[in-house]
Amino acid sequence: MHIKSIREAKNLKERRVFLRSDFNVPIVKGKILDDYKLISSLPTIRFLLSNKCKIIIGTHLGSPKGKSSAFSTKPIALRLGRMLGKKIKFVNDCIGAKVEKEIEKMKDGEILFLENLRFYKEEKKNKKSFAKKLARLADIYVNDAFGVSHRKHASVSAIRKYLPHYAGLLMEKEILNLNKILHPSKPFVVVMGGAKIATKLQILERFEGKADYILLGGSLANTLLSILGYEVGKSRVETDDMSLTHQLISFYKRCKNKKVILPLDFAVSQSKDGKGNAKIKTLGNVDKKDYIFDIGPKTISFYAKFIKKGNTIVWNGPLGMFENSHFKHGTISIARTIAARSTGAAFGVAGGGETVEALKATHMMDYVDWVSTGGGAMLSYLNGEKMPGLKGIVRR
Ligand code: 3PG
Repeated sequence: MHIKSIREAKNLKERRVFLRSDFNVPIVKGKILDDYKLISSLPTIRFLLSNKCKIIIGTHLGSPKGKSSAFSTKPIALRLGRMLGKKIKFVNDCIGAKVEKEIEKMKDGEILFLENLRFYKEEKKNKKSFAKKLARLADIYVNDAFGVSHRKHASVSAIRKYLPHYAGLLMEKEILNLNKILHPSKPFVVVMGGAKIATKLQILERFEGKADYILLGGSLANTLLSILGYEVGKSRVETDDMSLTHQLISFYKRCKNKKVILPLDFAVSQSKDGKGNAKIKTLGNVDKKDYIFDIGPKTISFYAKFIKKGNTIVWNGPLGMFENSHFKHGTISIARTIAARSTGAAFGVAGGGETVEALKATHMMDYVDWVSTGGGAMLSYLNGEKMPGLKGIVRR
């Protein structure tokens, strides 16, 4: 395993560095709602500043169809400038003469923030011509955008052909910490919730031999319970794909009674949006009209017992509809238990947009050893996939 870190780069001083960051953050009316990705990127930026580099930062934001002010990266540039206590110049394009002119004017130790890379459709198409135009802006390329490194996009993939390339410090930390999950100290506890069974099942199968306990929630648990013949009412299940259903059931049979742990009770509602009365129902007593929106109190303490045994814990995906106050208790309690156990006793990792949001709500995020900035990227890495953004930077 080798990471080609920016710390290894010779002649870095006073060079122009294209820093690919993942600042895909939630922004409402120009206000950034979650700055975790920005905070996580500061060590790399400070390292480059200490080398007096001219830093040219590029990121995507959302998936815009062409240029649109709602997807401008300008609010990110402003916030980052405030965090660093430094003026950051913003340019409203990411390639071309205007950008190049701004770079010519840059002094050592200055930062230029580019407009959304996805304003050009060539970015997602991994077009060499676009990557070349980005590469013209700098002498060195640094990938610190772990969260988008599972995508074959021009600024994370094709650009490498044209510039010496390195991993940023955040990228390095992501890889080193996620590797500890791939080589866990036992007992190893996996907590998996949310939807998108196809992706998650692959990871569960990968962990099958290593994990001691696999605790399931969300539509992943509902789907499995429904296949096993339990009533899950009108809850969200993913049973349309027959081959996936077979895969899930054979996974369960292989692990049964040993490691796959399913909920004992639930918080349910009979309204589709979760409004109105919430009731607690045990497995076997769910009504045809119920929607399962959370794990229940018995499950919370049952799952906590396993988490407290863990020496390595990984968590991805909420266990219920935690954005609704009636149905947040399962996810928040489990998040607290994982955070508490990770305070010295175990090595704990959490990742995924909603997972991080839930963890933040507990105010215990700092207790978890590693909170990944990647959702899909974290799953892709744990799944052993070849990630386009890691090629030539991380040798597994
Ligand atoms: C993320 O937020 O998960 C990354 O920035 C990737 O974003 P994408 O799913 O829009 O490619």
